[in-house]
Amino acid sequence: MNPILPGGVIGILGGGQLGRMSTFKAKQLGYKVVVLDPTPGCPCGQVVDEQIVASFDDELALRQLAEKCEVITYEFENVDSRAVELLEQLGRKVFPDSQALKISQNRWAEKEFLRRSGVGVADFFKVASLADLETAMQQIGFPGLLKTATGGYDGKGQVVLYNEDDARQAFATLNHPALIWEKKVTFVKELSVICGRNQAGEIVTYPAVENIHVENILDMSLAPAEAPAHVQAEAQHIARTIAEQLKLVGVCGVEMFLLPDETILVNEIAPRPHNSGHYTLEACLCSQFEQHIRAICGLPLGSTDLKGYAVMVNILGTGAGNRLAGLEQVLQNSQLAVHLYGKSSAAARRKMGHLTALSPHSLAEARGWALEARAKLKWV
Ligand SMILES: Nc1ncnc2c1ncn2[C@@H]1O[C@H](COP(=O)(O)OP(=O)(O)O)[C@@H](O)[C@H]1O
Ligand SMILES: [Mg+2]
Repeated sequence: MNPILPGGVIGILGGGQLGRMSTFKAKQLGYKVVVLDPTPGCPCGQVVDEQIVASFDDELALRQLAEKCEVITYEFENVDSRAVELLEQLGRKVFPDSQALKISQNRWAEKEFLRRSGVGVADFFKVASLADLETAMQQIGFPGLLKTATGGYDGKGQVVLYNEDDARQAFATLNHPALIWEKKVTFVKELSVICGRNQAGEIVTYPAVENIHVENILDMSLAPAEAPAHVQAEAQHIARTIAEQLKLVGVCGVEMFLLPDETILVNEIAPRPHNSGHYTLEACLCSQFEQHIRAICGLPLGSTDLKGYAVMVNILGTGAGNRLAGLEQVLQNSQLAVHLYGKSSAAARRKMGHLTALSPHSLAEARGWALEARAKLKWV
């Protein structure tokens, strides 16, 4: 495919912060952006050339989007895959394609895909009935996790199971037609790798980073992860394999568990820019967002080399207020970059922004700066 020339129009399904940061990079390369999202003035809507305000299953709106754009992408994986299929039927290229989307939308299909690709995953069992639940108890065992196959995010739709009572109760509470039982693995670290692949089949991987979650929401990413070189290499190799098997066009985040014996298991994949890749905005010449835009527009990919030790921390809402105070103190440290997503309401646990510290010396220094900075911010 010929590259999309600057001035061409990129469509995005979904108007959150991932779309917003992708748009900044698309604009840098001279593209125009149209977003489809039901909320007027959403984070991405604030910075695009045009927003189509409609729900993701609004066929007329999807047809409008197809008409206006040369290529279309999505920024969250819970967009209805039928919407993406319709765009494809209308002759529009959607990257990553509807196949990649469907795989990542269903934890069971995803695990099957990963296993088929030769990548390690925690033992799992598909649970669609009480009888399946009993089989899973026997075959996979405890401790386990029962997760809804679809619709879950930030730890929603999953329960940890220690015994049969937990399992039956979780089955009733989750009350979902498609569930997956996973063996709860003991890990040393959670890692992730962002990889990018373009239409020519060129692949790049960013270094594996360590992710620390608090209450199932990403709190901090440390780049690069402190791990032996062969673990780094293996993590990147896994991500590359997934990109190839998925015939990915765009970027993909791959979440992994590093076990005590240095085995790596893949937890889940997200065929889009990923929260754990935000540090690339400052730490790499070509950020994950620019990489995504390059890949979907048929351009060569960019450098993923690190310029220093980077630590990213998320800034979550608390419910205490919608204005953020303290920026003037935070920015006294010139090694910090702050990103706020322009969301009007800072509800508790909502992702409102992030900050990244870049140290030429050490991860510990970057981490200290990032935490010190975040502590100075307050919702008022
Ligand atoms: N099989 C597992 N073993 C151990 N911990 C797990 C397992 N699955 C999930 N977790 C923990 O729960 C977190 C959220 O689970 P995940 O499957 O990534 O769902 P989400 O879509 O909500 O991010 C993971 O980051 C990890 O800390
Ligand atoms: Mg996850």
